[in-house]
Amino acid sequence: MDHYAVVGNPIEHSKSPLIHAMFAEQTGQQLEYDKLLAPLDGFEASVRDFLRNGHGVNVTVPFKEQAWALVDEHTAAAERAGAVNTILRREDGSLLGDNTDGKGLVRDLQVNAGLSLQGLSILLVGAGGAARGVIQPLLAAGPAHLCVINRTVSKAEELASLFVDQGPIAAAGLQWLVEPVDLIINATSASLAGDVPPIPESLIEPGRTWCYDMMYSNGETVFNQWAREHGAARCIDGLGMLVEQAAEAFALWRGVRPDTAPVLAKLRNA
Ligand code: ATR
Repeated sequence: MDHYAVVGNPIEHSKSPLIHAMFAEQTGQQLEYDKLLAPLDGFEASVRDFLRNGHGVNVTVPFKEQAWALVDEHTAAAERAGAVNTILRREDGSLLGDNTDGKGLVRDLQVNAGLSLQGLSILLVGAGGAARGVIQPLLAAGPAHLCVINRTVSKAEELASLFVDQGPIAAAGLQWLVEPVDLIINATSASLAGDVPPIPESLIEPGRTWCYDMMYSNGETVFNQWAREHGAARCIDGLGMLVEQAAEAFALWRGVRPDTAPVLAKLRNA
C-alpha cells in the first residue's frame, strides 16, 4: 500500500492523518498516512529515510524552508513561496516539491466562503514564511491591492519586492494604514503566544471588512475574537485552508481531488 506522512516538530496534534484518511475513504484510494516526528536537527535524514519506501510527505512547521532546499525540483508555486509543504517521490526516485498553502487559502476564501477576491483591497499581516507562501495565489486572484504589513517593516518591504512582477503589492508598518480594507489576513505567529498583532481597529469597517486568521484553534482564535468585537463582517479561521491545502496535496499524489466540504464539516463538528 502506498505510504505517506506529515513531518513536523511538534506533530502530535496534526489533523492531517485524519483528513487524508477521510479523503482516501471518500475517493476509494488505498493508502496509509502517518505522523512523523523529525528531530529539529534531523529533518533531511528523517524524510530521506521515510521516502525510501514512502511515496510522499506533507511538511509542516518548522521545516518548510528545509524541504524547499531538499527537493530536486519545485513547482512554480513552491519556487515563488520559497517553501515546500508537499513532496512527491516520482517513479525515478527524484523529489518534486510543491506548496499548496496559498491555493488552499484562496480556495477557502473564494469557494468555501464565497468571497471573490477580484478588485478587493487586502491587507496581509506578517512577513514570515506563512505570508510568503500565500502571496502569489492571492495576487493571481486579481485584488485591487495587496499590502503586506509587518512589525519589522524591512521584512515586509523585502517580501513585497519579491512579488512586484505578480500584481499590485506594497509594504507598510503595522500602524501606518488606518483606512478600512475589504479583507485582513493574519499570517503572523502572534496567536501562538495568545497575542493579536497591534493593528488599528479602524482597518475594520463594520459590516464590510472580512477577517481571516490562518491559524485555527478549538475555540475562536484571539485574532478573530478581536475582529468580531470590532464589527468584522465575517471571521474565518484557518481550518478550511488546512483542509484545502491537504486536498491539493492529495490531488498531486493520487490524481484525484477529494470533495472537501464533508471533510471540513466533520472536523468542525468533531
Ligand atoms: P511563519 O513561518 O509562521 O511565518 P516566521 O517566519 O517566524 O513564522 O514569521 C512570524 C511572523 O509573525 C513575522 O511576520 C513576525 O513579525 P516580525 O517579522 O516583526 O518578527 C510576526 N509576529 C510574531 N509575533 C508577533 C507579534 N506579537 N506581533 C506582531 N507580529 C508578530
